[in-house]
Amino acid sequence: MSFKQETILTQLGNRVDVETGAVSAPIHMSTAYRHQTLGESTGFDYTRTKNPTRLILEEAIAELEGGVAGFACSSGLAALQLVFSLFKSGDHLIVANHLYGGTYRLLEHFEQQYDLEISYLDFDHLSDVSAAIRTETKAILLETPTNPLLTEIDIEAVSKITEENGLLLIVDNTFYTPYLQQPLALGADIVVHSATKYLGGHNDVLAGLTIVKSESIAEKLAELHNNIGATLSPFDAWLLMRGMKTLPVRIKQQQENAQTLVKFLSNHPCVGQVFYPGKGGMLSFRLKDKNWVKPFLQELKLISFAESLGGVESFITFPTTQTHADIPEAERLALGIDDTLLRFSVGIEAVEDLITDLKTSFAKLK
Ligand SMILES: Cc1ncc(COP(=O)(O)O)c(C=O)c1O
Repeated sequence: MSFKQETILTQLGNRVDVETGAVSAPIHMSTAYRHQTLGESTGFDYTRTKNPTRLILEEAIAELEGGVAGFACSSGLAALQLVFSLFKSGDHLIVANHLYGGTYRLLEHFEQQYDLEISYLDFDHLSDVSAAIRTETKAILLETPTNPLLTEIDIEAVSKITEENGLLLIVDNTFYTPYLQQPLALGADIVVHSATKYLGGHNDVLAGLTIVKSESIAEKLAELHNNIGATLSPFDAWLLMRGMKTLPVRIKQQQENAQTLVKFLSNHPCVGQVFYPGKGGMLSFRLKDKNWVKPFLQELKLISFAESLGGVESFITFPTTQTHADIPEAERLALGIDDTLLRFSVGIEAVEDLITDLKTSFAKLK
């Protein structure tokens, strides 16, 4: 029987423990597994390699994303590190230039330390992307919608380029999750998540997931996952699954709230521009004066000024000094991430209360 995402997510972990009938997945903390005799194994030997609790999560995310295997890592960046470890010195990657600052920082490290070559490109013009491909090019990496300006990149169109040229297409699906977008079905080869965000949903677990479409890449990643060792702990795997059960209801509420807030912000005299991709719970906006940023953030009583996203609580982030602080200023400004831009991760609070909080802060600005 094949189920819809809502059902797969809600039932995550139920029916795995046949012996007791536990509805919530058991947390297997054991790091080692006993063998009956030489050459015999239950399939579990050592937790870094494979853990029963982590496996439930890995199989579920593979199913949700339509892949053959999933790998649970200790953070979103560890999930990206795992993927970047597929490449060797001299390999060339094309990366969409609107990128989470931490991913940019990790790529810089791979560039400087391991001689990976990276070209950051604007994906508004896909002919530029095709033109940048050379014999050493191995993969294209993108986030969609982009962070923080929330522009959508056409995964299917990019996948035509990667297919024609024998490249891997890697998509960071953190902002939409498989509930709103399934990149593998659109032609991507690898999907990465900071599960710390929407999948976890409660700002209490740091986790990353990598999902792949092909068995051969799955084999390589399984080896690297074990060799690098940045695997997700059994408790965190359980906590993440506990959060994922409610993903659809959270996203629906976040999206409804975000759409109401887009209307409110678009009509507010203190706001210059609003960015929203039409779905999901993320939006960004510019204040009309950069000197308003500090007092505005300071006056917020309900919405937290904090650097993360996707949780049930509303957060506002200032990309200039937070998520994108490591991007050189000139590049940051050229990307449109200026000192008036604020990113809003809309929570599931009563939207009227969020509006009151914003109104009160705006009222202090003039
Ligand atoms: C789009 C995106 N990818 C990856 C990451 C890194 O994930 P983590 O913080 O879980 O390491 C983040 C973190 O903010 C992110 O926003």
